[in-house]
Amino acid sequence: MVIIMSYNKLQILKTTVNIGLDAPVRVLHVTDTHIAYDDPVRYSGRFKCFETEDDRGQTLDYLRQATEYAKREGITIVHTGDLIDYLSDENFRLVDKYLDGVDYIYAAGNHDFCHWVGEAKEDAAYKWEYMPHSAPHFKSNLIFDSRVIKGVNFVTLDNSYYLISDGQVDMLRAEAAKGYPIVLCMHNPLYTPGFAELTDGDTLVNCGIAVVGAPVEYLARYSLHRRKQQTPDEATLRAIRYIKSEKLIRALVVGHKHMNYEESLDNGVPQITTHGTFAGFVREITFM
Ligand SMILES: [Fe+2]
Ligand SMILES: [Fe+2]
Repeated sequence: MVIIMSYNKLQILKTTVNIGLDAPVRVLHVTDTHIAYDDPVRYSGRFKCFETEDDRGQTLDYLRQATEYAKREGITIVHTGDLIDYLSDENFRLVDKYLDGVDYIYAAGNHDFCHWVGEAKEDAAYKWEYMPHSAPHFKSNLIFDSRVIKGVNFVTLDNSYYLISDGQVDMLRAEAAKGYPIVLCMHNPLYTPGFAELTDGDTLVNCGIAVVGAPVEYLARYSLHRRKQQTPDEATLRAIRYIKSEKLIRALVVGHKHMNYEESLDNGVPQITTHGTFAGFVREITFM
């Protein structure tokens, strides 16, 4: 293994989001770190890493820079999933090491339950097979959790397989009943026309890769596999209606897309997507 001696500097985007607070609340949005270290004995050579041999250690150093910045600033990290790229003992050892003593809340990503990407259909049975391996290494409940920070309720909710359950919505309603403004933190963004029409030159860059609640005409662009994977069920459609109708949900903070993107849902609520730590990005968000 080649360990490089000097690493790139982390880019810390700064974004202000007005959600009607009397005093500002800052957090550091970190997402899609994709720590990708094989276990030499069990998995050697079977995985493509986000890092190459030429920049080995860079992702971990970006994560180190992020956690040190958050500690220095005295702010909580909101991590929206894919901290690891796949399950391995070495990845979990690194999670334990790099997040020891770090103040963070966590919304699960699809890779956090994944033995390795693409090995099987990612459904509830698959998730729960690997949940016992993953859950002990994260400080938040991976299905649903919340924490009030200076009067803002940061709610984390697992939508990593493009679905939201009625039970999660029941818990979200219970959070709303507490009366605090809510920032909803999830791995996958909700569908917006903006995502649907994003292009890279002439190419629809996001076609088939990942939003929750895409309408039929957008899903029609997907491959059959992606269409089956990402078609919302009735509970998910109910959840989206509730999320958009709940006046206390003031902002969404999401990942998964591996891009920096700021927009609003059709009800005017901002949805902030941040690029992956592996690519050298985090975002300091000041809620006002
Ligand atoms: Fe990711
Ligand atoms: Fe993801």
